[in-house]
Amino acid sequence: MDPFDLLAQVYDRFRRVPAPDPYLDLLGGNARLLDLGGGTGQVASALVPFGVRAVVLDRSRGMLSAAQKKRGLLLVRGSAESLPFPDESFDLVVVVDALHHFKDQERALREAARTVRRGGAVLIEEPDIRHLLVRWVWLVERLFGMRSRFLTPSQILDRLESCGLRGQVSCDALRARIVARKGR
Ligand SMILES: C[S@@+](CC[C@H](N)C(=O)[O-])C[C@H]1O[C@@H](n2cnc3c(N)ncnc32)[C@H](O)[C@@H]1O
Repeated sequence: MDPFDLLAQVYDRFRRVPAPDPYLDLLGGNARLLDLGGGTGQVASALVPFGVRAVVLDRSRGMLSAAQKKRGLLLVRGSAESLPFPDESFDLVVVVDALHHFKDQERALREAARTVRRGGAVLIEEPDIRHLLVRWVWLVERLFGMRSRFLTPSQILDRLESCGLRGQVSCDALRARIVARKGR
């Protein structure tokens, strides 16, 4: 069984709704957002009140059924490694705390790069595996049967840049933020 189908029942009690500003800064008006591995839609639902048209794609039925309780989200069950969207469908593709859960991260990053429009951005937020505490969390996740695999922030940026995007890494305490833009 997918561990996230079990976690879905309690997930939102522990995962607070993020501040919208860092995401809105990357979006133009009337923007189309893809929240990849978007789970219960905590990130996407914070942006809907600002006119963002948000698609949440996730492979877990449980996480998506929790997301159904939130207004204004388009929910898609699927795999990050094979997206059912045409090229350049979105202004911003975000992957928050999800990349390390994807089975084939390189493929998922290629799909993110493919589906973002020219001039748009891909934003990856991940726990920064260079920190000891994050390595402990990794161990705990593996004990719970998750097959998490972490890339370092510069490895993530390298992979996005090999898809033709150009970006930068910033790190804040235990989190890394990689923003990469697709040239016009
Ligand atoms: C830790 S949760 C993060 C959810 C959300 N992004 C957030 O910030 O609250 C990781 C999510 O990735 C999803 N996931 C894992 N592998 C996936 C894949 N290959 N394709 C799509 N979703 C996947 C899981 O089902 C889970 O909902």
